[in-house]
Amino acid sequence: MTDELLDALRSSKKYAAMDEELLLRVLEEERSRHSKTKDILKAAKNHLHQIHGAYAGDEGKALRRLVAEGPLCGREQAFLERHASTRERLPIAEEFFRTAFAGCPGVRSVLDLGCGLNPFFLPLMPASIERYTALDMDGEAAALLNRYFAERGLPQEASLADLVQRTPQIQADLAFLLKLLPVLEQQKRGRSLELLSELRSRVACVSFPLRSLSGKRKGMEESYTVFFEGLLGGSGWRVQEKRSFPGELLYVLSRG
Ligand SMILES: C[S@@+](CC[C@H](N)C(=O)[O-])C[C@H]1O[C@@H](n2cnc3c(N)ncnc32)[C@H](O)[C@@H]1O
Repeated sequence: MTDELLDALRSSKKYAAMDEELLLRVLEEERSRHSKTKDILKAAKNHLHQIHGAYAGDEGKALRRLVAEGPLCGREQAFLERHASTRERLPIAEEFFRTAFAGCPGVRSVLDLGCGLNPFFLPLMPASIERYTALDMDGEAAALLNRYFAERGLPQEASLADLVQRTPQIQADLAFLLKLLPVLEQQKRGRSLELLSELRSRVACVSFPLRSLSGKRKGMEESYTVFFEGLLGGSGWRVQEKRSFPGELLYVLSRG
């Protein structure tokens, strides 16, 4: 039954390249709430919109057109503008990445969880990065990023993952979890603490949005501060630096 639902979902281009484990999990969850196939599929699509589509938008075609125009290096901004999270980061990017990397001198390897299109900020990252592992539920983004990594002479380490079900056991100097934890909590309450506790990087940069997608601030800084600083105690991490940028709250964490 779930296999048929999976095929139905994957017959649409929008979901065809998404992580299979994640699609199966979402379908199982919705199957426990609804009995009719059409209701399960509708609820699953809604769920996928909330955790992915709302940020990535309907950009598949626009991205493919951009890719067809030639090499990706040198045209990073055009890609960064095609995802809500990176578009919002553009005006603060230089200072944002300077702050993130200041907490971890000598970075050679980066792990970017729920990366979206954030790796296109590589030219602004002040470090000699030799390995950039980028994980997301979105396979189209992974293919695009691998092409970009190849152009930059980096190993092609973008791939699919369901970060609710698995914590990647990849060692890295620095891990990015940018605007990711609220989306994971939406899928599984308590997942942020699990993920942070199981991470194997030296430093972790965790950020939260300070505006909703509709542009409202709605006391987000206070509520994310209470949520995050409350859970840090049991995580094995401590705050090394905290910066509030227009639109984004950044924590740089170190072990301890
Ligand atoms: C708010 S966006 C942030 C993107 C990026 N980190 C940034 O800040 O530019 C959340 C990202 O998490 C990804 N995502 C959501 N749930 C996920 C899951 N269970 N496993 C892997 N990726 C997930 C989405 O596809 C999306 O790219």
